[in-house]
Amino acid sequence: MQTVSVRAESRGYEVLIEKGLLARIGELAAEVNAPCRVAVLTDDIVEQYYAESAEESFRKAGFDPVRFVIPHGEASKNPEQLIRILRFLAEEKLTRSDMIAALGGGVVGDIAGLAASLYLRGVRLIQIPTTLLAMVDSSVGGKTAVDLPEGKNLMGSFYQPHRVICDPEVLSTLPEDIFADGLAEVIKYGQICREKIFDWMKDPKARIEEVIGECVRIKRDIVEKDEKDTGERQLLNFGHTFGHGIEKCSGYRISHGKAVAVGMALMARSAVRMGTGTKDCLENLTGVIKNAGLPTETDFTAEEIFSAVLSDKKRTGDSITLVIPDRTGHCRLEKMPVETAKEYLVCGLDRDKG
Ligand SMILES: NC(=O)c1ccc[n+]([C@@H]2O[C@H](COP(=O)([O-])OP(=O)(O)OC[C@H]3O[C@@H](n4cnc5c(N)ncnc54)[C@H](O)[C@@H]3O)[C@@H](O)[C@H]2O)c1
Repeated sequence: MQTVSVRAESRGYEVLIEKGLLARIGELAAEVNAPCRVAVLTDDIVEQYYAESAEESFRKAGFDPVRFVIPHGEASKNPEQLIRILRFLAEEKLTRSDMIAALGGGVVGDIAGLAASLYLRGVRLIQIPTTLLAMVDSSVGGKTAVDLPEGKNLMGSFYQPHRVICDPEVLSTLPEDIFADGLAEVIKYGQICREKIFDWMKDPKARIEEVIGECVRIKRDIVEKDEKDTGERQLLNFGHTFGHGIEKCSGYRISHGKAVAVGMALMARSAVRMGTGTKDCLENLTGVIKNAGLPTETDFTAEEIFSAVLSDKKRTGDSITLVIPDRTGHCRLEKMPVETAKEYLVCGLDRDKG
């Protein structure tokens, strides 16, 4: 298999996808940065599987790796961990010509990306995503963040990586449940603009490079047109507005992917009931979500979800933009008063309405 390469020309970086790339991390990093000190930021689970081999590869290519480990899970994506990372970089005396490598899932990628954008006002960043979600979504596009007690991703920056290196072989150690979280984002791409992804969902592992490559291309194209999330990029929020509400209501016990899956199904149900989406679309979408082993419903009430969403950053004044699935493989953006958004939520939750 040849390396799948997706170039984000206007951002000046490339995403490389191929089984076995982890062993070549050093040489691939050397193509974008002369050998230097590299802070390998990872979490305690990924560390056990992949930190040694990544560092070994860096060493072989002439880099000098130093390691920093955060506890796994969303709870680590906070300002305290961010400060610990920044202080580690300072203690290790990393300079502007040194580099950060984010080795892990979306949590590591988001916090390491923010640290890279802040330390010395910006140092080079290589993303080495190890979950499907991080490969198809969070490692590309340049959004970095940590959470605040008031809500998710409230403290962040836009900072593009200098290279993204995906080795799908690392997905072999990923629990099925976490793999399914990534499938939620894959399904999102299928619904917003690429129906053929739904066909691939019958056996996504069989063509994983192709799946990742296609998702990355879609995200790249959307981000190139709208980096700062003011127009088309909002399509990528499909299922996320109420999904974030569900995550927050659960105290983040429900994972991002599962909450987004429910958020997508909820929007498709409400689109049918509000007369803005087709029944076919609802059936196809909920079909692929269920096949992926993901949920389509939640026990939280509209009131609970809505009050969680009100503190979400996606609200602008008293209007909100929802991503509405109108037919299979297509969504449209609609800016609406908060009260109308609430009607969508109520309709999407109400199972008895048929
Ligand atoms: N920046 C963005 O554009 C963007 C987009 C989507 C999601 N996100 C963020 O991504 C985060 C979720 O990312 P995630 O789902 O990757 O979660 P995660 O980073 O918490 O990883 C999930 C779990 O899998 C483990 N893990 C990772 N790789 C592994 C591997 N190869 N083998 C075995 N275990 C492995 C981790 O240790 C962790 O316990 C959320 O914080 C979300 O807000 C960001």
